[in-house]
Amino acid sequence: MSLRARIRAEGHLIDSGKLTRIFDRIVQDGATYEVVHFEIGRTNDQVSTVELRITAPSTEVLDELLVNLLPLGASRVEPKEARTETAPADGVVPEDFYSTSNHPTEIRLGDSWVSIERPRMDTVVVVEEDRAVGTKLRDVRKGQRVVVGRDGIRVHPPDKERDRAHFGFMTNEVSSEKQVELVVQRLVADIAEAGERDGRTVVVAGPVVVHTGGVEPMERLISAGKVGAILSGNALAVHDIERALYGTSLGVHAETGETVTDGHRNHIRAINVIRRAGGITAAVEQGILTRGIMHRCVTERVPFVLAGSVRDDGPLPEVITDMNAAQNAYAEVLRDASVVLILSTMLHGIAVGNMLPSSVRTVCVDINPAVATKLADRGSSEAIGVVTDVGLFLSLLADRIA
Ligand SMILES: NC(=O)c1ccc[n+]([C@@H]2O[C@H](COP(=O)([O-])OP(=O)(O)OC[C@H]3O[C@@H](n4cnc5c(N)ncnc54)[C@H](O)[C@@H]3O)[C@@H](O)[C@H]2O)c1
Repeated sequence: MSLRARIRAEGHLIDSGKLTRIFDRIVQDGATYEVVHFEIGRTNDQVSTVELRITAPSTEVLDELLVNLLPLGASRVEPKEARTETAPADGVVPEDFYSTSNHPTEIRLGDSWVSIERPRMDTVVVVEEDRAVGTKLRDVRKGQRVVVGRDGIRVHPPDKERDRAHFGFMTNEVSSEKQVELVVQRLVADIAEAGERDGRTVVVAGPVVVHTGGVEPMERLISAGKVGAILSGNALAVHDIERALYGTSLGVHAETGETVTDGHRNHIRAINVIRRAGGITAAVEQGILTRGIMHRCVTERVPFVLAGSVRDDGPLPEVITDMNAAQNAYAEVLRDASVVLILSTMLHGIAVGNMLPSSVRTVCVDINPAVATKLADRGSSEAIGVVTDVGLFLSLLADRIA
């Protein structure tokens, strides 16, 4: 016995390539399709609509196909209501839970579609009266209603290839000097716009920023009010403070590039000084720390979150070593972000990438093409990977902006 379902998709289906991907998916999953309605958008801005009747050889094939079509923006014409089951214990959900992507998603509750609040990757959806809230597994409480199955779910992926409004003007990876210059130009406009829209530019940075001469341009960007918050780990702060106190980073003199005698102690000395003062903020207030990125954050009241890692020395007192608390603190800062700049940190960059909805404009700068592209590959034309030295990139950005 064959089974049928009618599905619908809307958007820039042809020029984004989405329609082809929908057709391919149906055939690859072992089903067939018949186009029952197709209306092409007549102008550049108008969307197209397609309705297909799909026929599958079994319930299993049909169910799996409907799941696979969701991220392509195709779902049943006559939506069923989303199903929920109650969580059996704190931090535990029913086996058949729905796991979110980073794209805007709606849930069918009663007769209406309700947008998921706090959209991000890998959350479950908790339904409370007429609200649907993206919730981390560990935050689910026993008895809460959790969306299960795939009925009554609609995903709106961005029209990636077609939407050339932003970074789509180039490929996902940028490395030539001219292209880097173009990205910087675009970023300058984005940061200005983020400020005007009351949004925020969040910088996620690793210690390589310090080693490559990025401290001075970062200080300029912070002072010019272009940085809304900094997310990082122990090392950025340690090496920045080592440089501020002793002129070295990892024992190498920042100006001459020479290894300083006994310099390998310097980062531990820096941690010791800050621990004795009671923390970074306290060290600035006591006049001990008088320059560098962390100093500038304190004096300009730019919030920073330092998340711990298993390789940390010290750590500095401000480093959050409870990973759940660190994740929550990152997520809180990112809630208002409209531009995110990820600078040479695979660890914190990937963590942040997983927390962002696909609509946030993201630039990932890394010398390793694999890292830059992976970080930027979030199914969105709003993200781009820039393969270059982070110190050079920051100098270019600060020269254009501050
Ligand atoms: N002493 C310490 O306490 C210490 C030291 C190092 C790291 N850590 C911690 O370890 C964790 C991971 O550290 P991480 O984020 O530095 O490492 P990471 O490996 O996650 O990322 C470093 C990235 O920098 C890139 N890179 C290297 N040189 C570059 C350049 N010139 N320009 C642009 N990109 C370049 C690399 O390709 C890599 O992707 C963090 O939490 C950090 O705080 C602690």
